[in-house]
Amino acid sequence: MDIFRIEGPVRLCGTVTINGSKNASLPIMAASILAGGKSTLSAVPNLSDISVFSRLLEQLGCCVTRIDNGQLCIDSTVIDNPVGDYEIVRKMRASICILGPLLARCGRAKVSMPGGCSIGDRPVNLHIRGLQELGAQIQLKNGYIVAEAPNGLRGKEIFLGGPFGSTVLGTANVMMAAALAKGRTIIESAACEPEIADLANCLNKMGANISGIGSPRLVIEGVRHLRPVDYEVIPDRIEAGTFMVAAAITAGEITITNCRLGDMMAVVDRLRHIGITIEPAKTGCVVTCSEGIKTANITTQPYPGFPTDLQAQFMALLSLAEGNSVIIEKVFPDRFMHVAELNRMAANLRKEGPAVIVAGVKKLMAASVMASDLRASAALVLAGLAADGITIVNRVYHIDRGYEKIEKRLNPLGAKIKRKQIKGV
Ligand code: EPZ
Repeated sequence: MDIFRIEGPVRLCGTVTINGSKNASLPIMAASILAGGKSTLSAVPNLSDISVFSRLLEQLGCCVTRIDNGQLCIDSTVIDNPVGDYEIVRKMRASICILGPLLARCGRAKVSMPGGCSIGDRPVNLHIRGLQELGAQIQLKNGYIVAEAPNGLRGKEIFLGGPFGSTVLGTANVMMAAALAKGRTIIESAACEPEIADLANCLNKMGANISGIGSPRLVIEGVRHLRPVDYEVIPDRIEAGTFMVAAAITAGEITITNCRLGDMMAVVDRLRHIGITIEPAKTGCVVTCSEGIKTANITTQPYPGFPTDLQAQFMALLSLAEGNSVIIEKVFPDRFMHVAELNRMAANLRKEGPAVIVAGVKKLMAASVMASDLRASAALVLAGLAADGITIVNRVYHIDRGYEKIEKRLNPLGAKIKRKQIKGV
């Protein structure tokens, strides 16, 4: 098992290029199921989640090859086993987004219910409801979602909003199924995330007929066939946001390339409020922190609101602000596994229901901490860059799920991170 040994404090300077988006790549890989044949996806990051999803597709009958760093070829000519096995699905919840494409392509699917998750309760009732609205018969059997649509799917007007607003992968599942359904589907309260817009653009390139992309009302005119595609996924806005916080928390200056500021308005707004300079530049921006860290209140929301996937990283940053900030988590109300770990590093955080009161401290102190999920682990690495002394981050496999060799991207900027292998923690 890998750990990180992080020496702090450091000041980061230099240039980093953002990789393709994990959360755009995963549903777009699932979309390849809809059209028998060879699809080639570019800018797909080299992450453990991508490898797990590739194995999932291979289990269905696909052939997945990595052509070179960033390109993935998926041959979906044969889908002879429309089953998402528990052993794979339990490792990665995003596996659920094969359900819609399998139903549309094969008329049947059996996918394991995703299990528990450290960021909180994550039901899939909206996915199921949306697919049932399209005419699928769905039952839960021995931990599996068993779905059938022997006569194909039929377009319908569907409200897909839930108690926390729209659902990202739920929208992906229903949109992909509707692309091959008979007639028109309207998804109301659809997710507007850039990753969903990227999926819709990819589907249209495959021959689908989707409009209202980027808005909460998607209109999908079903078509009879889709064709394989060559497609390049968008840059990862959450990775970009993480590097922006890295510049801010180390009072550094980083040039970030291959980053779309237009996808990050809420993030940039908060950073500027905190006193960080974000200068647009060719293919990205320059992030500078020269005047300390001011307080800010943050409420996470579905896009275009502030992304929940940057909540932990901003908590690490605001733990060094001059005064109190309040962070409210409105998408995953229990997503606070990082709070206790940051407090181990002498942060002063108090949880109150779905909110955390962040009382700024002068400095963080190094400690051994435990990563619990992808974004929490990123926050611990950022805190380690600013803390006095040697921080040990355990269970680094969490961070490898969403950041490609992050230490190899931070060290050239001035970080001192060593990856070490140790016997199980
Ligand atoms: C996607 O998860 C992302 N994952 C998550 O990123 C991200 O945190 C999340 O969207 C929100 O932005 C991928 O894209 C692979 P949701 P998803 O369905 O689609 C509730 C990361 O760090 N809900 O939009 O699973 C749900 O419990 C990951 O990269 C229902 O109630 O999230 C939550 O409170 C972590 N019923 C809210 O909606 C449902 O059927 C939003 O969840 C579905 C969701």
